[in-house]
Amino acid sequence: MEADTLIKIQAQFAQDVYEGLSASPKHLASKYIYDHKGDLLFEQIMNLPEYYLTDCELAILKNNREEITNLFLKNTTSLNLVELGAGNGKKTKIILEELQKQSSNFCYVPIDISNNALLKLKNTLSIEFPNLNVSPKQGTYFNMLKTIESSESTKNVILFLGSNIGNLSHSQAITFLSQLAAGMHSNDMIFIGCDQKKDPQTILNAYNDPKGVTEAFNKNLLHRINRELDANFILDNFLHWESYNPQSGTAKSFLVSKIDQKVQIAALDLELKFKAWETIHTEISQKYDDELISELAKAAGLQITAQFSDDKKYFKNYILTKTALQKL
Ligand code: AVJ
Repeated sequence: MEADTLIKIQAQFAQDVYEGLSASPKHLASKYIYDHKGDLLFEQIMNLPEYYLTDCELAILKNNREEITNLFLKNTTSLNLVELGAGNGKKTKIILEELQKQSSNFCYVPIDISNNALLKLKNTLSIEFPNLNVSPKQGTYFNMLKTIESSESTKNVILFLGSNIGNLSHSQAITFLSQLAAGMHSNDMIFIGCDQKKDPQTILNAYNDPKGVTEAFNKNLLHRINRELDANFILDNFLHWESYNPQSGTAKSFLVSKIDQKVQIAALDLELKFKAWETIHTEISQKYDDELISELAKAAGLQITAQFSDDKKYFKNYILTKTALQKL
């Protein structure tokens, strides 16, 4: 990463921490969980038996790989498979393998803010897929999307897997999808993974594992503030709490102060007071159904054109395309 981008990101982190922890009620943005340690903890979460999301989406991709890639390759001779968030590539490799069977003329374009994640992915791909055309882009999603040539003749399929959209509120999700739609041609597609509403206990268990990995993941925010902003949070003085509202489909994560305490954040010249049982809201993980996805898509000028689900209907992947403009 360029030094000046790093400084900018760091300044944004400091500002967001300042604002979030000065607010009432206190909050922190979940995107800041993902430093090096946070990435490793999320890898561990994906391997937890309670965290069904990863296995469900993997099963969907495996069981429907032919149909999915056929839809990706429909009406085009040249394809860009653009992935938002590179991850470890485990799921994407299923699609890449199938695409290679069916076509030679496609390019895989992983976009990620982490250069490290992109380098790792590029290395494993060069061994497992030596003939694959890969063009990694390091930066924020929308800055990088602008740099990808999109035309009527080259089709762009945008992958957004893992129910990452669930970290956004509905209005943020609509803005996000609208921004994607603005750069799309009529033939382009979004392939998006969305965790579904289900037995509330199953959802709570996925975000409350007995090994405490999710707790450590959530508390990594405090750890990161300690390290990067010279703060003195005592992690044991906070507990991880998960809630799920089956009416709205919103899972929320909190850090709860177990005692009256003061915390200093030296780099921000800030002293925080916590009352016993005061909360910091850290993450939302929205759960969906077809109606909700359809509404969000519609508000963004998109529509569902296909969908795939696992046997238990825990998770779905939707193909979204632009709504045809009404001809006058
Ligand atoms: C990566 C945002 C999809 O919300 O399920 C996992 C992050 N948080 N366990 C999710 C997460 C707690 C995850 N996403």
